Amino acid sequence: MSNRKWNIGIAILFIVFSSLLLSFLFSTLRIRELLQPILSNEASDKEPYHVVLLSQELDNPYWRSIEQGAREASTKYGMQLAYTGPLRINPNEQIKLLEKAIAAKADALLVQGINDPQFVDLINQAVSERIPVITIDTDEPSSRRLTYVGTNNLDAGKIMGGLVATAAGHKGQVAVLIGNEQSPNQQLRLEGFLSVIAQYPELSLVAVRSSNISRLQAAGEAEELLLQYPQLDYMVGLSALDGIGIAEAAERSKQSGLHIFAFDALEETLERITSGKIKATIVQQPYNMGYDAISLLNDYLHGETLPERHFTKITVQDGQALNDKIGATSP
Ligand code: BGC
Repeated sequence: MSNRKWNIGIAILFIVFSSLLLSFLFSTLRIRELLQPILSNEASDKEPYHVVLLSQELDNPYWRSIEQGAREASTKYGMQLAYTGPLRINPNEQIKLLEKAIAAKADALLVQGINDPQFVDLINQAVSERIPVITIDTDEPSSRRLTYVGTNNLDAGKIMGGLVATAAGHKGQVAVLIGNEQSPNQQLRLEGFLSVIAQYPELSLVAVRSSNISRLQAAGEAEELLLQYPQLDYMVGLSALDGIGIAEAAERSKQSGLHIFAFDALEETLERITSGKIKATIVQQPYNMGYDAISLLNDYLHGETLPERHFTKITVQDGQALNDKIGATSP
């Protein structure tokens, strides 16, 4: 065969091969194009990541703030949040709700520690079923939870002790309301408070009562205490609704000389600080607790190691601090 014929043959082969290759490429692209809607549907059909937040009391305004923070962070990270809890404080129901959330195969859990062996076992069961658990507001340190997000309650109690001791000039009678006797966060706050008060022999603690985190019960207990101890100078509430309840009792019993110290920054607490009925409050960051817990969960899901505890900030709000704030924001 002549050279010319060879060249023509090779050129024809080249053209045939190239057109085959091109048509192969085109059909691959076309198939991809056709599959695209199915593939993206599959991606969006993927179940969202379900997180359950279990509160101490469903409609308690403090817990609603935690929920709000957790909800906003969940939206940011494309997670779905289910918020649940007993209607009224009820640790047995918290145990049942945790059981249910595990049975329903939640992807992750945010729970308040309640210092109960059955609750600890359930947290551990969840973790062994690969459901990450973060404790929020109150720790359950003996469990296998990933981390704790909330206040350093012992320190908060000490700060409260310092506030009362300073205001009292280290002498007088003081009574305390705690939210709940079993709650570890309340016990830690009380422990911190007492460790400071004990340094002043003339500052005597006359009673510790429980409000069962109810404002009504706080008011009732405070009224009784005022009758029982007519010399009472200072009353301290260690959970969110206690200070408001104590202030109501003082108003009813016309005890304008009582100095009240509260916890948390609910609107009514701040109003009473402005009007001078509550002296000061220790402000926790419930919104940030919710937000940070979800952010830390997201970090964990991306392979990061979490700290053993993540303490959210506490500050003291008294009349002076509020007036400064109002002054700073008014035109
Ligand atoms: C406590 C919560 C509690 C709430 C009740 C807060 O100060 O940190 O544990 O549920 O008060 O009102």
